[in-house]
Amino acid sequence: MKILVTGGTGYIGSHTVVELQSKGYEVIIVDNLSNSSIEVLDNIAKITGKKPLFENFDLTDPLKTASFFAKHSDICAIIHFAAFKAVGESVDLPLKYYRNNLVSLMNILQGMIDNGIANIVFSSSCTVYGQPESLPAREDTPIQKAASPYGNTKQISEEIITDTSSGFNIHAILLRYFNPIGAHESAIIGELPLGVPNCLMPYITQTAIGIRPFLRVWGNDYSTPDGTAIRDYIHVVDLAKAHVIAVERLTGHKSEKKVEVFNLGTGNGFSVLEVIQSFERMSGVKLNYEIKERRPGDIEQVWADTEFANLTLGWKAEKTLDEMTVSAWKWEKALAEKK
Ligand code: UD1
Repeated sequence: MKILVTGGTGYIGSHTVVELQSKGYEVIIVDNLSNSSIEVLDNIAKITGKKPLFENFDLTDPLKTASFFAKHSDICAIIHFAAFKAVGESVDLPLKYYRNNLVSLMNILQGMIDNGIANIVFSSSCTVYGQPESLPAREDTPIQKAASPYGNTKQISEEIITDTSSGFNIHAILLRYFNPIGAHESAIIGELPLGVPNCLMPYITQTAIGIRPFLRVWGNDYSTPDGTAIRDYIHVVDLAKAHVIAVERLTGHKSEKKVEVFNLGTGNGFSVLEVIQSFERMSGVKLNYEIKERRPGDIEQVWADTEFANLTLGWKAEKTLDEMTVSAWKWEKALAEKK
């Protein structure tokens, strides 16, 4: 079965391609390499023994997207990762985010309609919950007004998919990710942040390896046990595996509704300080960090209710926080050796 993975050279995309290929799927990646590197294709091949098919173009281009789908109408399912994801940048450049994230999705859905492709898995985010009134966040926890244009593109995308599916033969699974971290055990693929990372884990590993002088911990006055903010960190390989199950569910006609939504997290919340402690324990490196003011736009705490995903998909995140931090460290060290 041929699966289209948009954004397949990116962080979560590349790990998902590996899992798909190892289950025997034929993968075709579309990526414009705006936030990833072409070498990822060879690195995927080093792990799986097979280089995925690849086309480099921008999915916001309606003509290129239409001709791509006309050529590949035998695609059984699409996993759509390709999107911009920097929360802060989206506040400064909202149109860049709305244009890229929404136009590409609409072009893909049009291609599906025109070519009879029925299945799409969409990368959504726990950001749609904002700061939930009660925790853990369930799939039916009310969605809150997005705190950033990035978050809004995820909310609007969910709505665009839902509305389109109701009038056409389109079946969708919307996966709401919590905080993916870590890297493939081979340390051949992993997260490759461009410039200064915003996210916690790459900032920690870059500080530990000496690229950054110190980590800034954004706030220690939250109403949490140690005062730092809490997130549900999930190993990227666990997350990738859930995508294969979602594809199997769609192509095997096992969905119970045309659009299904699943949380992808571990169900456990960890504070920033707990992540730092895990990293220090697993790497043996003492991390240089300073407590700073809260980061604007950050929520205090969120973690997932995973029961629906566990029971319905038969999937459960397996890796512990220590396994996540040690794999992120192994990847950072592998990157340093390449330089
Ligand atoms: C947010 C979004 C997520 C999105 C991601 C993209 C929410 C709930 N989550 O994740 O949907 O996909 O951005 O980038 O809106 N921290 C530090 N120092 C740092 C970096 C981070 O203390 O240098 C702290 C943050 O304040 C936060 C935690 O670490 O408490 C995790 O931050 P980060 O990795 O940036 O992810 P989110 O902001 O949770």
